Amino acid sequence: MKKLGLGIIGLGGIAERLIPTFLKHLRTDLKGGFDVDVERMAKMKARFDMEMVTDVDALINDKDIDMIYLAVPPRHHHAIAIKTMRAGKHILCEKPLAATLKEAMEMYEVAVETQVVHAMNFPLYYGFPYHRIKQLLEANALGTLKRVELSALYPAWPRPWQQNYWIDSREDGGFVREVFTHFIQLIQSSFGPIENIQSLVEYPEDQSKSETGLIGVGELANGAKVLFNGVTDVNQLGNIKLTVLGSEGSVTLENWRKLVVKTGEQTFITAGELKPGKGGDATYDLIHAFYEAIDGKESSLVTFEDGLQATKVVEKLLGNY
Ligand SMILES: NC(=O)c1ccc[n+]([C@@H]2O[C@H](COP(=O)([O-])OP(=O)(O)OC[C@H]3O[C@@H](n4cnc5c(N)ncnc54)[C@H](O)[C@@H]3O)[C@@H](O)[C@H]2O)c1
Repeated sequence: MKKLGLGIIGLGGIAERLIPTFLKHLRTDLKGGFDVDVERMAKMKARFDMEMVTDVDALINDKDIDMIYLAVPPRHHHAIAIKTMRAGKHILCEKPLAATLKEAMEMYEVAVETQVVHAMNFPLYYGFPYHRIKQLLEANALGTLKRVELSALYPAWPRPWQQNYWIDSREDGGFVREVFTHFIQLIQSSFGPIENIQSLVEYPEDQSKSETGLIGVGELANGAKVLFNGVTDVNQLGNIKLTVLGSEGSVTLENWRKLVVKTGEQTFITAGELKPGKGGDATYDLIHAFYEAIDGKESSLVTFEDGLQATKVVEKLLGNY
């Protein structure tokens, strides 16, 4: 079984979380990493015993590297992803695809032009909630779709466990880009594009800081409305909830893992890991799907096209076009 050479650019919080799963996959040959923060590189080198380079181009152009996992802040996705794809390397890019719609569109165009495998880290798509929703829709167990609602409460933004320089910046941070993106991708992969978007965004006085509130509405193909409601700085437990309401049943996904399905007289509650997949989790399945696509096999990938569709909704909600 041929191994695939992996390079990682951006060795922050999410890369640290993903590397063990990459390493669990027998096809992964972790060739090296790069981060602009040299202290961070040293820490990650010690933790994972991986090679580091001091020049990002050296990593991208390394002939032993087949693919790049790009986990830098969103404002840097565009430049590095385009360089990677132009070097003929496959790419797994973090969400959101980019910090602006224009950048996302350019990235998608280069992905199509270079024909590399382009994938995005949207683990929800590989988890049991998405599969369950798909099953229910295929069985027409929810009836006619009436409403989709996404609502979130944040006692503080950024959240205590994700403190960095960009996460509350208006340029590429905020809960809409960081969190809503995941659910927008899930809604669109289940029900098609969200169109006719209108929104009210609340921003703090400091113009460099991200949104503190959002109320929005969009529409699905059958006319069902999608409601968006998020607010920060409230004295509540943090919560994110997606509800799909049909004429015959409903599904609620709460805090990523708790799924409540109501059909007829029955209510089922499931809670647990995203999915006990082949390797034990949704991220493993995502990585496996990425490798299968590189092998030229039929594969269930979330691509840059899906990332672009999600970015369209996110940036429209934020009033950026
Ligand atoms: N898919 C998910 O579930 C998920 C979860 C968290 C974060 N993310 C996404 O992952 C990305 C990174 O998030 P994070 O939480 O790890 O952020 P982070 O700030 O912890 O890490 C980013 C790293 O990139 C480095 N970096 C910055 N600019 C760089 C450059 N030009 N070249 C190389 N390295 C550079 C930083 O020094 C830092 O170490 C973001 O796009 C974020 O939205 C995705």
